[in-house]
Amino acid sequence: MAHDAHHDTEHRHEQANGRPHGPGHGHDTDMDWNELGPLLETQAELFTPVYERAMAWLAKEVTEPGLIVDAGSGPGVVSCLFAEAFPAARIVAVDSSGPLLERARARAARHGVADRFGTLLGELPGILGELDYPADLLWASQSLHHLGDQRAALAAFAERLAPGGTLALLEGGLPLRFLPRDIGIGRPGLQARLGALQEDWFTRMRAELPGSVAAVEDWPVLLTAAGLTHTRTRSFLLDLPAPATDRARAYVAAALSRLREACGDELDPDDRTTLDRLLDPSDRASVHHRSDTFVLGAYTVHTAVRPG
Ligand SMILES: C[S@@+](CC[C@H](N)C(=O)[O-])C[C@H]1O[C@@H](n2cnc3c(N)ncnc32)[C@H](O)[C@@H]1O
Repeated sequence: MAHDAHHDTEHRHEQANGRPHGPGHGHDTDMDWNELGPLLETQAELFTPVYERAMAWLAKEVTEPGLIVDAGSGPGVVSCLFAEAFPAARIVAVDSSGPLLERARARAARHGVADRFGTLLGELPGILGELDYPADLLWASQSLHHLGDQRAALAAFAERLAPGGTLALLEGGLPLRFLPRDIGIGRPGLQARLGALQEDWFTRMRAELPGSVAAVEDWPVLLTAAGLTHTRTRSFLLDLPAPATDRARAYVAAALSRLREACGDELDPDDRTTLDRLLDPSDRASVHHRSDTFVLGAYTVHTAVRPG
């Protein structure tokens, strides 16, 4: 994500959904979404304040949606938040990972919204053709960038909107930060250097997607090209200040260790040593103990409307 926080949970693995996801099984950018389930869930739970504020903003323009589609829902944390924010709406969570949709259904049941919650398993964007009704709100959070041809996917998303329906895309923003510039060990600026490696990883990930097509990530322009109008953009701050809670610390440790797996080999040896110390629970300088650990990021939502 250019750098979204998604980077934090998206790293190397072997296959997606029990089958190779990229053109070459074993690429360091293939995603194992099933394996990432718990981390995606923890992340979305921790980031709930951001989603709630984004939904309050959406609700000003999207009044009384009948059907909300969460395209690339993952484990359904956000889908369930939609169910709570729009109590009259039916929610359909769409994803290509069966196990993640199972988590979504279990969550909907726990939250008492199962009676108006459905799931649809398949590959975006084609699977949207299976929806029984057009969507009043189609939300795609950090999922579009996993599709090879984003422009074509946006056109397909737009086609599944009801007249007057809204497409809301969460893409971009600012990279997450967990630590100050100078942490007293290693060379200052470690997270900025990790961020640069993540950007390269992201570029490789996109290039290796099936049917990958380069696109300038000017989302309002792409939304307009998909036949939509009335584009709006707003960013939401995620600000969990130091000293981090245990939950936030656990998330930071998981996110950094995924980063270590994905980009560790490309780090210079000093930075690798610093990162290993940050991840070692027995080290007082690790993110498990240090008082300066925080979670700070920004998420951008772009919306556009299908002409009525
Ligand atoms: C980074 S996760 C985002 C999950 C959730 N929207 C969120 O913001 O927390 C990307 C999701 O897109 C799904 N996904 C990736 N490629 C897909 C495809 N081709 N078709 C359907 N879903 C896909 C993955 O299974 C995963 O659940």
